[in-house]
Amino acid sequence: MSGRTKENKDISSSDERNTPLADTRKKGSCCRRCIFWTVSIIVGLIAVGAGFFYYHLRNPFYVSDEIYESIGQNGVQLFFQHDRNKDGYLSIDEFESVIHRFISSGGNITVDSFNYELPIDVEDSIVTVKSYFSPLRLETMTKDFESEGSLFSFAKQDSISGLKEWRTASAEWMNFGVKHFKVFLPPSENYITDPENIYHIVKYEKSFTDMVKPISNNRYYPPRLEEDQHILQRLLNMFHPRPFLINRFAPQGAIACVRAYNQDYIDIVFRLHAEFQLNEPPRYPFWFTPAQFKGNLIISRDYTKILYFNMYVPNDRKLNVDMEWLNGPKESENMEVDIGYMPEMTLNITGVSIKLGPDNQYIRDIPIPQDPRLLQKVKDLKWSKEITQQEAQKKLEIYLYPFKKVPYYNFTTAIDKARDENKLIHSILLWGALDDQSC
Ligand SMILES: *[C@@H]1O[C@H](CO)[C@@H](O)[C@H](O)[C@H]1NC(C)=O
Ligand SMILES: *[C@@H]1O[C@H](CO)[C@@H](O)[C@H](O)[C@H]1NC(C)=O
Ligand SMILES: *[C@@H]1O[C@H](CO)[C@@H](O)[C@H](O)[C@H]1NC(C)=O
Repeated sequence: MSGRTKENKDISSSDERNTPLADTRKKGSCCRRCIFWTVSIIVGLIAVGAGFFYYHLRNPFYVSDEIYESIGQNGVQLFFQHDRNKDGYLSIDEFESVIHRFISSGGNITVDSFNYELPIDVEDSIVTVKSYFSPLRLETMTKDFESEGSLFSFAKQDSISGLKEWRTASAEWMNFGVKHFKVFLPPSENYITDPENIYHIVKYEKSFTDMVKPISNNRYYPPRLEEDQHILQRLLNMFHPRPFLINRFAPQGAIACVRAYNQDYIDIVFRLHAEFQLNEPPRYPFWFTPAQFKGNLIISRDYTKILYFNMYVPNDRKLNVDMEWLNGPKESENMEVDIGYMPEMTLNITGVSIKLGPDNQYIRDIPIPQDPRLLQKVKDLKWSKEITQQEAQKKLEIYLYPFKKVPYYNFTTAIDKARDENKLIHSILLWGALDDQSC
């Protein structure tokens, strides 16, 4: 610092006219360098930008990370192999060869192939399952579809049309054989006698790649299921044609435990998480995820007779359905999320199962009349050992959500507790619930 001052002083003293010039020259070279670098950087940025743009525009081989994660290396390869003119699109001719390849390897993209037929054995007993359905109350959603008069509202209306059009269950009743319910049964005797034993009805086996990537939203038709699970798809089909037994997000699948037993019967409590795809192409996907399905099955210990079956989406909370849909092609930009309330989504049987004898095979195709005393009969059952319905449901809940091991209280009870124990309350308000899918 001092050196410089000294130098300046020296210059000024030796040649006064030189001073401003020297300064300007110094400043000028600095400025020129400055401009040089700025321009270089800008030119560089433009070049990179143009290259990027050109690459995306001209390079049909560009695949987004989202797609890569979703269909993997093999899927991407399959696409490019069939995109014969390398324009980044499959034409109908190119698609033709994909379909032939698919069919010859045993695939079948007929939607109907997922509406599993469940033939009832001549020796079996039958039950009639009846559906109760009351559509989602649109006014409980935060999105206001009616007043959205924007340019894009047409696309939005189109996306939610699957929801708006779902006014009734797809089947009012359906007959099933008792044997079809096999998938609900405990795997062995010690699951009956020890209520601590929880078992899986549907288990989502994660492959290694599933651990890192979520299940794609970009799907319309349910995947093929193991034969013993066809009944679950068929039951859910009574509400809507496109149920997905494995949710995109945890908790996935279905679990159960035996709540009560006596010499003749067991009472199975189960909890199922499934979702529905309400749209078909060309509409964008619309996912409808009920909070959960709860249920009971009372079946004889020789598995030949059903006394009771009931399965429902709880409606005791203000919100019980999560919804996610796309208003455009890009998941990152066009994804919409909302929660709503659906008053009723229930399946239950009309009466105890009836044996198909040689003389009454015809009843296979007609509904068993509603038995008004069914619930009373169930209440009158005497159990040798039992836990309460709430205890059983709680066990399943803790299994799926370990954080529920800590007791949770509602607001009024929490205030009483805090007063009793002289503790403070830390209050967090949530939109939806953390212990089911409605959030
Ligand atoms: C695909 O499945 C449908 C319905 O199950 C059937 O009618 C059709 O013949 C099948 N197509 C092929 C190629 O197997
Ligand atoms: C079946 O469900 C309906 C609708 O929730 C209910 O009114 C009825 O009592 C249930 N029947 C049995 C036997 O659980
Ligand atoms: C909270 O829970 C208690 C005990 O379960 C119940 O009596 C009370 O009505 C509940 N209060 C509210 C606001 O839900």
